[in-house]
Amino acid sequence: MSDGSGYRKKVRILQLNLAKEISHGICVSNLACRVAREMRFPEATCHELAVAGFLHDVGKLELEKYLYGRENDTLIIEELKYVRMHARLSAKIMEERGYPSYMVEWVYCHHENCDGSGYPRNLTKEEIPLEAKIIRVCDVFAALTTDRPYRKAFDVDTAVDLMIEEIKNYDIEVFLAFLKVIHEDDMKDILDNGRTQQQLECFLNPEQI
Ligand SMILES: [Fe+2]
Repeated sequence: MSDGSGYRKKVRILQLNLAKEISHGICVSNLACRVAREMRFPEATCHELAVAGFLHDVGKLELEKYLYGRENDTLIIEELKYVRMHARLSAKIMEERGYPSYMVEWVYCHHENCDGSGYPRNLTKEEIPLEAKIIRVCDVFAALTTDRPYRKAFDVDTAVDLMIEEIKNYDIEVFLAFLKVIHEDDMKDILDNGRTQQQLECFLNPEQI
């Protein structure tokens, strides 16, 4: 960046992205832990799922170095290829920091679909760890119920309907446990992404306080 205002703008965008990623991680973490409890997982595994749920997209922060400085006319397909690297990058970061190999595998598999249409390895239902299937369902739901630059957040019922249309992607046992969890009374606080994000933006961007 050649001038101060440009630099400030760039930093601001990065901070907003970071706030969104952290907010999304918190939501997936809470949901994944609750779904695991609903499925009677040992408490230690529920805790590990909370950690993996929070970190599942941490590799996206690494993508910045691949996408930074790209030309505006970069083909979308090329960009998609890099974005699809994030599951492997998240797993690599966790591996380097000494997380157990099974947690690394959960995160590596968090975009795999039961029908084999996911990425990065096109695994099928039997090959995907159950914990990764939990993160998958919670991740999709958290994304659908959050505002995106190109659309407003869907309400809970619409998000569930959209997920049912793609039910082939998900493990049915996980999906049923997830449905129970999101209809529990105290779910509103967990799903209140907007509020979490507002708090995070103030934390990351003191000028806004
Ligand atoms: Fe992801």
